[in-house]
Amino acid sequence: MCNLSKHRFPIVIQGGMGAGLSSWRLAQAVSRLGHLGVVSGTALDLILARRLQDGDPGGHMRRGLDHFPIPKIADRIWQEYYVPGGKAARAPYKTLPTHSMESPRELRELCIVANFVEVFLAREGHKHPVGINYLEKIQLPLLPSIYGAMLAGVGYVLMGAGIPIKVPRVLDRLANHEPATYLLQVTGAQENYDRTMVFAPKEFVGCDLSPLTRPKFIAIVASNTLAATMVKKADGKVDGLVIEGHTAGGHNAPPRGKLQLDERGEAIYGERDHVDLAKIRDLGVPFWLAGGYGRPEKLAEALASGAAGVQVGTAFAFCKESGLRDDYKQALMAKVLAGEAQVFTDPVASPTNFPFKVAQLEGTLSEQDIYAARPRICDLGYLREAYRTAAGTIDYRCSAEPVTTYLSKGGIVENTVARKCLCNALMANIGHPQVRNSKHLEQGMVTSGNDLTGIGRFLPQGADTYTAADVVRTLMHGTLFRS
Ligand SMILES: Cc1cc2nc3c(=O)[nH]c(=O)nc-3n(C[C@H](O)[C@H](O)[C@H](O)COP(=O)(O)O)c2cc1C
Repeated sequence: MCNLSKHRFPIVIQGGMGAGLSSWRLAQAVSRLGHLGVVSGTALDLILARRLQDGDPGGHMRRGLDHFPIPKIADRIWQEYYVPGGKAARAPYKTLPTHSMESPRELRELCIVANFVEVFLAREGHKHPVGINYLEKIQLPLLPSIYGAMLAGVGYVLMGAGIPIKVPRVLDRLANHEPATYLLQVTGAQENYDRTMVFAPKEFVGCDLSPLTRPKFIAIVASNTLAATMVKKADGKVDGLVIEGHTAGGHNAPPRGKLQLDERGEAIYGERDHVDLAKIRDLGVPFWLAGGYGRPEKLAEALASGAAGVQVGTAFAFCKESGLRDDYKQALMAKVLAGEAQVFTDPVASPTNFPFKVAQLEGTLSEQDIYAARPRICDLGYLREAYRTAAGTIDYRCSAEPVTTYLSKGGIVENTVARKCLCNALMANIGHPQVRNSKHLEQGMVTSGNDLTGIGRFLPQGADTYTAADVVRTLMHGTLFRS
């Protein structure tokens, strides 16, 4: 284990990777080594429900549920979703209600419990902190999700993909079980429009619980402007920043200025996207560098620049403990070793409008014919955009849903072109694909940073897989803080 006790902050943050890729297993493995393991907080309600319908192999979900402070809520979830021995391979998973401003109580309970279970399991067997990652774009389930993670003692909340300026205050309030609010982003909403989401913990836990530890809050940003906004204007304390460059896996911040594409159709990043680290240092909060920092020389470079360390995703995404299904891991590793791995920064795949990195892999939605063969279905809805209807109410739409439905909700046709259903694809990536008409399985689509091409460096000699410990060992090689 790394002797980092004199350091207030971790040197390596294993980046949150949604959905379910940075699972409790991966985060636990990294935190056990004295670095910061981070679970993804994206769609954990759905993931818990599907793990239970798969028969809860190993009994881990049951163990987590047994520790939830309000047993009757945990029991209800167990009764609702657990299928002894797992559902039949061709049986569909149950459909959950989609999130909205008026999400049913059961769905909010599922969020609380699922976030609790993931963090509880990641914290088992060691005393180091564990973090949770949320995307600011996914706002509807946010408040109950954060509360569930806090009930399980999460040490860090990390958040990007938006401007999470109001989150520090949410953490302060929820630590005392006080009601917290969050303003929903609603396209077309007028200033005075009521779009405040309220979450009152006592409506759910009912009893008097002692105050919770307020987790540290780390904002993930890609520009000096956003970094300064977060530190100077946030509603409460921002404990640190991750500065993420555009080679990182997952969603990337769009380039500044007008979107321009190169000959491959990828977004072009330029001088204006460069982050001035001197200005970041001047903000006076610890920071970590992300996006191609999964090498010892890059860690050394980050430390020399004044960073507290690095956040690394891609290297951990393909290790044994990650939630990515094995056939995808093996196929991509084979491509890497053959020198054929490719990552495409797709400017339009994600309904969020953010560029999204896609590893090119046969049999996944990265292939045009597989994408074209999939009927558009939107039944999970995490990436839906809230908008104001002509009647003045709030409704929800996703640019990857059936085109006619999207247009009937006032969406424009240009937005639908080449959009992909990330929600279903990401569930397929972690081995929980929905089954359609008893025969068609949803296909995945793997995201990865440009660093994919180099992950062979983590393989121990003669091995064809590597562990989170191999990543950490390789990274820390040569630093003062040797594992
Ligand atoms: C498979 C994968 C999924 C990711 N998902 C998320 C996510 O859900 N939220 C997030 O903030 N960052 C996400 N990221 C970014 C990582 O947390 C991390 O910042 C990034 O991977 C660092 O750059 P690297 O990939 O070059 O190591 C993801 C990265 C990968 C590789």
